[in-house]
Amino acid sequence: MTSKLLCAAFILAALTLSITFSLQPDQQKVLLVSFDGFRWDYLYRVPTPHFHYVMKYGVHVKQVTNIFITKTYPNHYTLVTGLFAENHGIVANDMFDPILNKSFSLDTMNIYDSEFWEEATPIWITNQKAGHTSGAAMWPGTDVKIHESFPTHYMLYNESVSFEERVAKIIEWFTSKEPINLGLLYWEDPDDMGHHLGPDSPLMGPVISDIDNKLGYLIQMLKKANLWNTLNLIITSDHGMTQCSEERVIELDQYLDKEHYLLIDQSPVAAILPKEGKFDEVYEALAHAHPNMTVYKKEEIPERWHYKYNTRVQPIIAVADEGWYILQNKSEGLMLGNHGYDNALAEMHPIFLAHGPAFRKNFTKAAMNATDLYPLLCHLLGIPALPHNGSLSSVQDLLRPTAPRTVTHTQSPPPHHGSGKPGEHEQESNAYFIGVSLGSIIVIVFFITFFKHLIRSQIPALPDMQAEIAQPLLQA
Ligand SMILES: *[C@@H]1O[C@H](CO)[C@@H](O)[C@H](O)[C@H]1NC(C)=O
Ligand SMILES: *[C@@H]1O[C@H](CO)[C@@H](O)[C@H](O)[C@H]1NC(C)=O
Ligand SMILES: *[C@@H]1O[C@H](CO)[C@@H](O)[C@H](O)[C@H]1NC(C)=O
Ligand SMILES: *[C@@H]1O[C@H](CO)[C@@H](O)[C@H](O)[C@H]1NC(C)=O
Ligand SMILES: *[C@@H]1O[C@H](CO)[C@@H](O)[C@H](O)[C@H]1NC(C)=O
Ligand SMILES: *[C@@H]1O[C@H](CO)[C@@H](O)[C@H](O)[C@H]1NC(C)=O
Ligand SMILES: *[C@@H]1O[C@H](CO)[C@@H](O)[C@H](O)[C@H]1NC(C)=O
Ligand SMILES: [Zn+2]
Repeated sequence: MTSKLLCAAFILAALTLSITFSLQPDQQKVLLVSFDGFRWDYLYRVPTPHFHYVMKYGVHVKQVTNIFITKTYPNHYTLVTGLFAENHGIVANDMFDPILNKSFSLDTMNIYDSEFWEEATPIWITNQKAGHTSGAAMWPGTDVKIHESFPTHYMLYNESVSFEERVAKIIEWFTSKEPINLGLLYWEDPDDMGHHLGPDSPLMGPVISDIDNKLGYLIQMLKKANLWNTLNLIITSDHGMTQCSEERVIELDQYLDKEHYLLIDQSPVAAILPKEGKFDEVYEALAHAHPNMTVYKKEEIPERWHYKYNTRVQPIIAVADEGWYILQNKSEGLMLGNHGYDNALAEMHPIFLAHGPAFRKNFTKAAMNATDLYPLLCHLLGIPALPHNGSLSSVQDLLRPTAPRTVTHTQSPPPHHGSGKPGEHEQESNAYFIGVSLGSIIVIVFFITFFKHLIRSQIPALPDMQAEIAQPLLQA
């Protein structure tokens, strides 16, 4: 009896070893995709079969709290740094830095001044410092020189370049001789159309369907390139969108003398820089001007927004209630959809889905913070994370519990040689280590179970024991 069991134990251990050895070593590749302004609930507005396909074979987080202000540049920089706006320094799409005496403006694409970006270090630079290569297809900030670096491969920002062309670049970089391990892909919609039509418009249906088709195209291209099952695809966004209306406009000209301040950023968070000696006058005039606008002195900005401790936040900010619009006067046009409001509002929240060897399948998680993506990315890439405001443990349950852990290499990997695949050796020895450990665990568990039963002197039939020992291993 004992020898029979011993024999079975070794067969089991050997089987486990061989299974572990055949695991794909490619799980450290990540493609991060952002569809700008994709509100969390657009997934349910019209059929979105490709998004649901990713959810079924991957993970989905229903509620993602992004950062204040819920605008494009601040949130895209948070996704790649894990920092709040006050810490990464991109506090708005339109900014003035009184120390640098310089302006930054998305409106005029005056965004290429490195100094604005260098309060943080984005993940593509950290990835490259760890010896890897990154590729970016128009992700905000990836064509800006930051700390003397660009992504290894990148495209100059040009909104006229099609989604298909951007995807083609990403595929090319992932399948090249020295493949990237980190890809970043950005697309302007549904944000553009959301502003134009307003999210409540029935015409948003076809816009969302079009994004779903674009995701379908990406999946198809990844499958064609044999990347679908080997890379970790993360699909997210920067913010949502809410309906605005000409009936909900706050005109600053009704309350303030134009000569007394500069309007650095407008709606829905007006950034107001009073002129010399005019602070009190401006503040008093604005403080109780309109019931749907809350006015804060910089030091009174609520802590939960993590927004006040930066020189680029102006002395006064006025925050509109959801759906309200702040304008200098009505002669300026307004958009039917907007975002930027309080990040606690559900309509400001983006989507989050992921698929790949590192992720669980058909798993739904209730909530996460957008700052948690950064430590997750670093974990997947096996690179050290810089100080950030997220938490890996908050999102660890998205990962497959049985998948081999990625090992963080603190030292630079060996230089890439023309012939061999970079990093292959490390990943093989990694698999070997896991195989041996798993094999040993099985043998140990087997013997513990065996002796337990021996002591009780009621040795059950082998199949039953196998079923029993399978349990704790599945939960490991
Ligand atoms: C800030 O820059 C402007 C030009 O952009 C210049 O006129 C002004 O003198 C500068 N202010 C200071 C304090 O250097
Ligand atoms: C932007 O892309 C379009 C389409 O590919 C091209 O025609 C145009 O020349 C590009 N613009 C610049 C400034 O490169
Ligand atoms: C606008 O202000 C009024 C009066 O305080 C309030 O009843 C209403 O809820 C506010 N609107 C929004 C969208 O918060
Ligand atoms: C409205 O504001 C703009 C500047 O934002 C200004 O050029 C225009 O003259 C103003 N219109 C009126 C009627 O005050
Ligand atoms: C996914 O999970 C849900 C419940 O969480 C279940 O009803 C459904 O059958 C599962 N689908 C697949 C394909 O496993
Ligand atoms: C988001 O972060 C806050 C502050 O760190 C924390 O209290 C909250 O639990 C986090 N939310 C989730 C869903 O992890
Ligand atoms: C966010 O992270 C930065 C960098 O570690 C840190 O300096 C800052 O205090 C953090 N903010 C909060 C609210 O914890
Ligand atoms: Zn927008």
